[in-house]
Amino acid sequence: MPILSKELKHIAIIMDGNGRWALQKGMDREEGHIEGAETAKKIIQFCSNIRLPYLTLYAFSKENWNRPKREVSSIMKLLSKIIKKDLQSLMDLNISLQIAGEENELPLHVRKALELAIQKTANNTGMKVILALSYSGREEIVSSLKKIINNKSKNINEDLVEKHLYCPEVPSPDILIRTGGDKRISNFLLWQIAYSEIFFEEEQWPDFRAENLSNIIERFYERKRTFGNIA
Ligand code: IPE
Ligand code: IPE
Ligand code: MG
Repeated sequence: MPILSKELKHIAIIMDGNGRWALQKGMDREEGHIEGAETAKKIIQFCSNIRLPYLTLYAFSKENWNRPKREVSSIMKLLSKIIKKDLQSLMDLNISLQIAGEENELPLHVRKALELAIQKTANNTGMKVILALSYSGREEIVSSLKKIINNKSKNINEDLVEKHLYCPEVPSPDILIRTGGDKRISNFLLWQIAYSEIFFEEEQWPDFRAENLSNIIERFYERKRTFGNIA
């Protein structure tokens, strides 16, 4: 198990490849989402064990609403089922849950399950898990600008834009991972990944394991981060 150093506070993951994983096995795409949820639980547990402060999981993008109704509704059902079923494990792990995204667009049954979990876990002091749901990086920046304009703020600068993002207290990700083999960002955390170390992994999300994450963390420590400066 890797020892966490101070420079690693936040890992963000684009959990991609559920559909392909299932189709390759002759199953429905829905089965891939069910298996993907199992992977998410294992990764949450691992990150909590190594005492990672923040983990963001991209679970559903704003653009994912364009998928066939049947797939969208099965993902939504799965979401509320898991949140209810696994609330106690979040409590046991002292994890607090947050969401990033346009919560109002989610069906009522998901919102209710989420609100209960967020409220129940609010005082937990361990890892923060941020679920990106109905999330769009561009929309997050627009919503920050709208709040700034409504407040009639002057002196608009980077700090102010950051203060009005969905989760202003969460530091930018040090590591961004995308599973499933595609090398793109798909509208995830556009503002926050300015200096993230990016890892594109071939495994489909249901096949991703704690060992894969452990290996990425080791590779992260080998990278030299210069933030525009010279080494
Ligand atoms: C990611 O897996 C999960 C969601 C977007 C909800 P996909 O469903 O995109 O799986 P692939 O990329 O089609 O294999
Ligand atoms: C990104 O994956 C969104 C999530 C993993 C939740 P998509 O499968 O929706 O993205 P594209 O279509 O490959 O860009
Ligand atoms: Mg995909």
